[in-house]
Formats: sequence, structure tokens, C-alpha cells
Amino acid sequence: MNFKNKTVVVTGANGGMGKVITERFLKEGAKVAALDLHVDELEVGKEDYLSQLLAIPANLTDEKQVTNAIQQAADFLGGRISILVNTLGIAQSATPIEEVTLDEWDKLMAVNMTSLFLVNKEVVKVMKTKGSGAITNIASIAAERPRPGLNAYVTSKGGAISFTKALAIELAEFNIRVNAINPGPSDTNMLGKFSPRGGDVNKVKEETFKQSVPLGQLVMPEDIAEAVLYLSSDQAKMVTGSVLNVDGGRGL
Ligand SMILES: NC(=O)c1ccc[n+]([C@@H]2O[C@H](COP(=O)([O-])OP(=O)(O)OC[C@H]3O[C@@H](n4cnc5c(N)ncnc54)[C@H](O)[C@@H]3O)[C@@H](O)[C@H]2O)c1
Repeated sequence: MNFKNKTVVVTGANGGMGKVITERFLKEGAKVAALDLHVDELEVGKEDYLSQLLAIPANLTDEKQVTNAIQQAADFLGGRISILVNTLGIAQSATPIEEVTLDEWDKLMAVNMTSLFLVNKEVVKVMKTKGSGAITNIASIAAERPRPGLNAYVTSKGGAISFTKALAIELAEFNIRVNAINPGPSDTNMLGKFSPRGGDVNKVKEETFKQSVPLGQLVMPEDIAEAVLYLSSDQAKMVTGSVLNVDGGRGL
């Protein structure tokens, strides 16, 4: 896989998976615009990659901020975006449906679904001018095999998968591929946020999540990065509209 001449936009780049994905692309020689609400983690220790990396803080549920951020990204990347990876997202703590507020529901939909619409929309405009592109949206295995109490989260990730398929068929004639990855329980800060309010995060991580994975381990951000690199590469040139489970068998 060769990423030396590739230009990449990663969203959620300050997060557990996003950071590792960003680092992998940088190591492979790509130029990366890294977007997140906060970019503090990305600015630390990146002296080696100063000419390759631009960190852009933005709330990606806000249309104006998305337009500005993608414009900045495209300028930094020389007017070309070859690869987009959307990792941004928020968790829902397991909550009975009758206790979920409309505000909580709306926030989950805004961050996990509407942001995908806004970011894809702006990036596709740039990709179309160059006649190619590879997009990967991070969904969740929870959309296929839900857990109790994650009602809004599961719905938002189901939407992310349907959106991915809808764009894959729409953009095929423009040589833009669109795929999704379903991570299983992954070893990042987010995992603890799925436990019930006031629950023992470490206990839930070990006893619920780890044990739910047939391969017996939590997914590591590096496992997701490997899958993203494959789907973004020319080796996957005939792969579009697919949903790759990187879940240690959790979906079985
Ligand atoms: N960790 C897991 O167990 C797990 C499992 C399945 C799917 N996922 C999905 O994988 C993706 C990455 O998750 P992670 O574990 O790295 O989580 P994380 O919380 O470490 O990272 C998510 C990032 O998204 C950013 N973000 C949130 N709202 C934003 C907004 N409005 N605008 C811009 N950025 C925003 C956060 O600042 C954060 O850096 C998410 O979409 C998540 O739903 C995670």
C-alpha cells in the first residue's frame, strides 16, 4: 500500500482511534488534515510531521464550521482530498428508553449521523473535481448486534451504515468508493462511557465488553487503523458499499 502522494482528512482525529489512524497515515507518507472538537493531543510531539499535518479544531455538527474546516483542509492539501476517514462519535450510557431525553437523542443523532452528512457533502465536492476518492465511515457492530439501553447510539450507527451504502451507489460513477467499518468493543476512552450511569467502568470493561468478544480481547485502535488503510488503498479498488466488521467476532 502506497500513501506517499495521498491527501487525507480524518475527523475525530484527537480520539482513541482517530489519533492512531492519523499517525499511521503520516508514517506512510500521506499528508493529513486532522479535524476534531479539540486538537490538543494532535499538537503534542508531532514536530516530525509539521509539513505533513494540519490540525483543525471544529465542531463538525455545525454546518458553517464544517464548510470552513474542509476549505482549510483542502487548501492545506493542495486542493485534492484522496481519502476521508470519519471516526468522530459519542457514546450513550446504557439508559432505559423511558429515561432518554429528547436532548440526549438529538445530540447522538447530530454527532453520529448529521456530522457525516455535513462532512461527506463538503469533501465529495472536492473529490468530484479530481474524479476519485475513498471514504470510510466508522459505524459500530452495535448496529448489527445491539446491547440493552444503547437505543439512540445503535440507531445513529444504523443510520451511518445506511448512509454509507446510499453514498456508495450514488458516487460509484464518480470513482468515489464509500465503505464502513464496524468496530467491536475497543480499548479507548469511549468504551467506559457505554456503562450505565454510575456503573463501575473498569468492571464493565473487563466483565461485560471483553467477555463479549469471541476472540477474547478488546479491539485495539491499531486494528481499526489496519482496516482503514486497506479500505483507503488501491488494493481495495473494487470494494465499495461494504461494511467490514473488526470486532473479534462480537457480531456473530
Ligand atoms: N470505543 C469503542 O468501543 C467503539 C466501538 C464501536 C464503534 N466505535 C466508534 O468508533 C469511533 C471512534 O471512537 P473512539 O473509541 O476513538 O472514541 P473517542 O471518544 O476516543 O473519539 C471520538 C472523537 O470524536 C470527537 N468528537 C465528538 N464530537 C465531535 C464534534 N461535534 N465535532 C468534532 N469532533 C467530535 C471527540 O472529540 C473525540 O476526539 C466513534 O464513531 C465510535 O462511535 C467505538
